[in-house]
Amino acid sequence: MTHRRILLIIGGGIAAYKAIELVRLLRKAGHSVRCVLTRAGEQFVTPLTLAALSENKVYTYLFDLKDEVEMGHIQLSREADLVVVAPATADLLAKMAGGIADDLATTLLLATDKPVLAAPAMNVRMWLHPATQRNVATLRGDGVTVMTPDEGEMACGEYGPGRLPEPEAIKAAIETALAQGTVVQPLGGQPDFAPSRHRPLYGRRILVTAGPTHEPIDPVRYIANRSSGKQGFAIAAAAAEAGAEVLLVAGPVPLPTPPGVVRVDVETAREMAAEVEAGLPVDAAIMVAAVADWRAADTSAQKIKKDGSGEVPPLALAENPDILASVAKSAKRPPLLVGFAAETNDVIAHAQAKLARKGCDLIVANDVSADPMGGETNRVHIVSKAGVDSWDRLPKEAVARKLMEKIADELDTRVPLADD
Ligand code: CTP
Repeated sequence: MTHRRILLIIGGGIAAYKAIELVRLLRKAGHSVRCVLTRAGEQFVTPLTLAALSENKVYTYLFDLKDEVEMGHIQLSREADLVVVAPATADLLAKMAGGIADDLATTLLLATDKPVLAAPAMNVRMWLHPATQRNVATLRGDGVTVMTPDEGEMACGEYGPGRLPEPEAIKAAIETALAQGTVVQPLGGQPDFAPSRHRPLYGRRILVTAGPTHEPIDPVRYIANRSSGKQGFAIAAAAAEAGAEVLLVAGPVPLPTPPGVVRVDVETAREMAAEVEAGLPVDAAIMVAAVADWRAADTSAQKIKKDGSGEVPPLALAENPDILASVAKSAKRPPLLVGFAAETNDVIAHAQAKLARKGCDLIVANDVSADPMGGETNRVHIVSKAGVDSWDRLPKEAVARKLMEKIADELDTRVPLADD
């Protein structure tokens, strides 16, 4: 293993203690670590502990005149192979996104020409706040790798996303960033936004549909299906993480919007069709939604009441537009069009037939007979004219990430980026 130099910026927050374990893991792997503590970070871990573990001088929030002579902040920020911010507080992320440099840590972050990886940790409301989500999207757009925080019980007693990822997970992300490289801001020039293996969808616009649709019968009843929206949301999240600009047209599901994703909520198939149409053109459209095939032919403006006769009211159905098939035929057909197919039998044969019938480029088929909708994993088969690629059963997030690699490769062969 090659030994690399890591500049670790430690923000404030109860999770700062995990930075100690991170330093230990990085040192064990043979990397050299130089720690910088923010003023808030110093409230939670001591420079002495970090100096002992890193076997290196620790820098604090104060600009030390002697340090500045021995090693200026520009040099400090550039001599590393990777700059890591862990924990990255909401405040640090905001300063990074805004280019504010009002202490040593933020000055280093603004001055560096090296890849930056941030591991956020904060209260769940702070993480979900639109301001933080905006900052995360900005940073990802700038080429910073922002990890998704863990979900769970927080020190403050609330539950949700916001926990610092475990030190092992941060270390794994560090190794990936070191191995793959990421967007680097060249000295004196414009940011180099050339897509790297690390952000394979940078510069791409991707539309994702997800969730079920609800088709009203009257003001209180509707036709729906069991789609949880999890796979579609995981795909939107993975596309944004891979650097794409993502529009997510979501049916009614109680899921949080993934960071960096623009979300439009819809209820019905016809609303979804209209938002998809409005979202074109894109480089790739991934239709994950379980669109209701039929809607009530007539919607009652008032709640339909039992009239006591024992007769059931007639429920006539009308067919909904096939969004995928219409996009395939439209003048704005994306260069890459991906459909999903949940099947209970003859999965591959049905998917092959659907591929031809709907006019898309790929069908991601899954067998829902053994795997009811709403689960956490999927076993999918990628069906195209070129053949069938069957993947192992994977968590939906992993299916999403693997699919993004496939989509990035497909797009690279179909639509070279403007500046390629
Ligand atoms: N789809 C769509 N609009 C519809 C129905 C389906 O865009 N009205 C899309 C889905 O998002 C999915 C693909 O078409 O990507 C296949 O959906 P599926 O429900 O499996 O296809 P159907 O055409 O409904 O086929 P069937 O019910 O006969 O299996």
